[in-house]
Amino acid sequence: MSRRSVADMLQLATGVSRFFGAQRVLDGLDLTVEEGEVVALLGRSGSGKSTLLRLLAGLDKPDAGQVTVPDGVGVVFQEARLFPWLDVLDNVTIGLPRTARAAALDALAEVGLADKSRAWPLTLSGGEAQRVALARALVREPRLMLFDEPFGALDALTRIAMHQLVVRIWARHATTVVLVTHDVDEAVLLADRVLVLDGGRIAHQVTVTRAADGSVPATELLDRRAELFSHLGVEQLGALRRQARAEPETPLSQQERLAQT
Ligand SMILES: Nc1ncnc2c1ncn2[C@@H]1O[C@H](COP(=O)(O)OP(=O)(O)OP(=O)(O)O)[C@@H](O)[C@H]1O
Ligand SMILES: [Mg+2]
Repeated sequence: MSRRSVADMLQLATGVSRFFGAQRVLDGLDLTVEEGEVVALLGRSGSGKSTLLRLLAGLDKPDAGQVTVPDGVGVVFQEARLFPWLDVLDNVTIGLPRTARAAALDALAEVGLADKSRAWPLTLSGGEAQRVALARALVREPRLMLFDEPFGALDALTRIAMHQLVVRIWARHATTVVLVTHDVDEAVLLADRVLVLDGGRIAHQVTVTRAADGSVPATELLDRRAELFSHLGVEQLGALRRQARAEPETPLSQQERLAQT
């Protein structure tokens, strides 16, 4: 919450329902975010996270209720979704007038790809392609950025580099962000508030308290993680092992991440 000074609220979804055949995926869901807030959305596979994001992005319509998003929404998906027949710069400026080229070059520089503007998408690494997708969203100066597991396909090191990059960019642009992720740690490290989607609604929310420098203290990470795991109905493996062996607490392991897909 420390990143914001003005507390303008955006009521993005009001009583939103979405059905697919007989399946009720979203059920009267309400979602409000504060301008400049970074909100992470967690939930089991199939809980409706992408469905909600598609509605917010205007790519789908609710069966009931209302979606109200500000003008200018940027979306970044798990795959970069670049057009292979366009070079990087043309991918970033697609649909924009030629006057946007200077801003596009700035956006590419911001994501560390100043030297790749004339490269072809097929020659890029996964992390580079994702950074192009980020630049494509940024150049439109969105008030709201939607991310659907944007780091899910990246290796661990690239993922950490992307975390650092997006945190810098979000802070610089004071963007409001809704980030879908499977990764509880990623949610706590990146978001001001973590929401759990369950039963078609936001069933729980957890607020993350940061240190003055914006980092998340280790104890805060552990506490919020434990809270979220319990909301997600997932026993942490460490706790289960301790229970089984009646051993004292051990350091955290990577295995405690959600592996739902
Ligand atoms: N276009 C569609 N037609 C029919 N069913 C759909 C459609 N889109 C989504 N669904 C169903 O809605 C449910 C929610 O899907 P959604 O993609 O929103 O889940 P998710 O929370 O994003 O899951 P994951 O974490 O695996 O990405 C799933 O059961 C899915 O099969
Ligand atoms: Mg999804």
